[in-house]
Amino acid sequence: MITCKAMANGFEYIEINNATATAKIALQGAHLFEYTRHNETPILWVSTCTAFENGAAIRGGIPVCWPWFGMSENPDLPQHGFARTSIWKLMEQTENAQASTIILELQSTKSTTKLWPFEFTLRLHVKVGTTLELSLETLNRDSKTMNITQALHTYFTIDTIQNVSIRGLEHKRYFNALDKTFYTQEGAITFDKETDRIYQDVTWPLKIDDSVRTISINASNSTSCVVWNPWIEKCARMSGMCKESYQSMVCLETTNALKPTFPPTHNEAGGSISSAR
Ligand code: BG6
Repeated sequence: MITCKAMANGFEYIEINNATATAKIALQGAHLFEYTRHNETPILWVSTCTAFENGAAIRGGIPVCWPWFGMSENPDLPQHGFARTSIWKLMEQTENAQASTIILELQSTKSTTKLWPFEFTLRLHVKVGTTLELSLETLNRDSKTMNITQALHTYFTIDTIQNVSIRGLEHKRYFNALDKTFYTQEGAITFDKETDRIYQDVTWPLKIDDSVRTISINASNSTSCVVWNPWIEKCARMSGMCKESYQSMVCLETTNALKPTFPPTHNEAGGSISSAR
């Protein structure tokens, strides 16, 4: 069943509850903030200290970062773009025995063209079943060439960060955002400090292992991925994070970052998330 709901403060979201899973997607940002297969631990992490209110991005789930990832060249513009705090519209919903699918859409307006001078349509396709599938579709409706960077900035629930390893990025080049230097990955990624890296020329799928399960992330039309954990000090100063939040989350973000992509008329990037014990 697909139901439109609102929290006590009016914050609107869509709830999906079907034979395999439940999911919640906010209209602000087309921000998926729950995906739980029945009788399993939630796959997506959401901070217990986050606000659900228009104007503030939810800390957790899957923020849609678009039309830029990270900081824009203009420091007055919001980090990770404006899509995650814009109000999207539910355009389509379908259900069958295997899965529920919705399509959310964001169109350029006078206020978006002030921030970014292009006419566009952006769609997020979300399919909730035994796997979670997202596809972010960019339509360039402008006469100018646009270039974008983008991310499905997924926060994953893990048991404890010290038990986590990420497989599939061995021997890949990465940009370390902390010292602005390129390195090559040796072995699986493990965590004992702040980690903020953009891996390039990624070969999907990637796996996140902790002591209880393996989460598998597949993607198409995504050339890079970001691996991020803020660790103790950054976590303590970030909005929407509790002091200990860094212990139970890791971000593995499906991205086109560092190198821009140029959607002439159309660009679609997406992937799927699944898990196994
Ligand atoms: C990650 C970046 O993608 O997002 C980090 O690599 C950043 O540098 C993090 O801190 C969270 O960003 P924000 O804007 O949601 O606080």
